[in-house]
Amino acid sequence: MGEILLDVKDLKTRFRSRGSLVHAVNGVSFHVNRGETLGVVGESGCGKSVTMLSLLRLLPPAAQVESGRALFEGQDLLKMNFGQIQKVRGGKIGLIFQDPMTSFNPVLTIGDQVGESLIYHRRASKEVALKRTVELLRLVGIPDPEQRIKDYPHQFSGGMRQRAMIAMALACEPGLIIADEPTTALDVTIQAQIVELVKDLRDRLGVAIIWITHDLSLVAGLADRIMVMYAGTIVEEATVEELFDDPRHPYTLGLLSALPAFQAEKNVRRLASIPGSPPIYANRPLLAHFSCAVLSPWNVASQNYPHYSRSPLEKMPAIARPVL
Ligand SMILES: Nc1ncnc2c1ncn2[C@@H]1O[C@H](COP(=O)(O)OP(=O)(O)OP(=O)(O)O)[C@@H](O)[C@H]1O
Ligand SMILES: [Mg+2]
Repeated sequence: MGEILLDVKDLKTRFRSRGSLVHAVNGVSFHVNRGETLGVVGESGCGKSVTMLSLLRLLPPAAQVESGRALFEGQDLLKMNFGQIQKVRGGKIGLIFQDPMTSFNPVLTIGDQVGESLIYHRRASKEVALKRTVELLRLVGIPDPEQRIKDYPHQFSGGMRQRAMIAMALACEPGLIIADEPTTALDVTIQAQIVELVKDLRDRLGVAIIWITHDLSLVAGLADRIMVMYAGTIVEEATVEELFDDPRHPYTLGLLSALPAFQAEKNVRRLASIPGSPPIYANRPLLAHFSCAVLSPWNVASQNYPHYSRSPLEKMPAIARPVL
């Protein structure tokens, strides 16, 4: 096992919304090793983004981290003062968001924006920052970068903006990149190119990646491990092989059963869907979420919902396979 880079324990984040408490993240624990790629999957609203925003302390004012610990290179991100966390954001942890059109400032050139973190974090001169920006844009496959640094975001295509965002995330050579649905807004061909680019950069630069997505099949070709989130908790965590060969949680099975390739391998012609809808998180007992939306439609032998680890120390409850 590699050296642990990020170690999150029992993270809980709540939103105050119209007089009620929304339980967005409910005791999430996970780790990322140096150079490792961790895929995070789960349906919309399950708490993927809020978990990562909590770590970087980028939550909106209505949200609060209630408890938890998040050691990054041995220091607790949740206890850092403003100056310390600012150094981590963009400096030690790079961020790639879903929609680069809204993440880039429309009135500044790509060159200025990609180079900005070098000026801020590395105290690089404007000249040095621009030179490095050209190298970075070349690294992510943007043709003619000497000219393109003068372009504004709207002059780049969607795929090129996402490449520029990756260049920006890599600028300060961070140990970890958090990519929040970075390819969701792109068509499948460009999506595949971006995934290949990230794989190549990861292998060359040794950067660890947390890749958040709805798409299990996409992350299967990229990640070392996958964690599956549901209702603000991690319901299962496993290597890609383990997850596809031997899924343990009914929700994971539900996600896998909705994949055409997975079903074709098992000679099942009809795609399954997960019955019910995502739970409402406000003022609800947390574990009830599972029975109301996921477990009850299926034949479940146990009402225990522990973290579905493969550790031999953890006793697995008996769970029947869902009827597909
Ligand atoms: N501004 C907000 N006010 C109140 N509740 C919020 C707010 N933002 C998020 N939440 C709550 O936090 C939960 C988790 O949201 P989050 O954005 O982390 O989901 P997600 O898994 O990233 O979804 P998606 O795949 O759609 O990006 C939501 O279901 C919602 O209940
Ligand atoms: Mg999200």
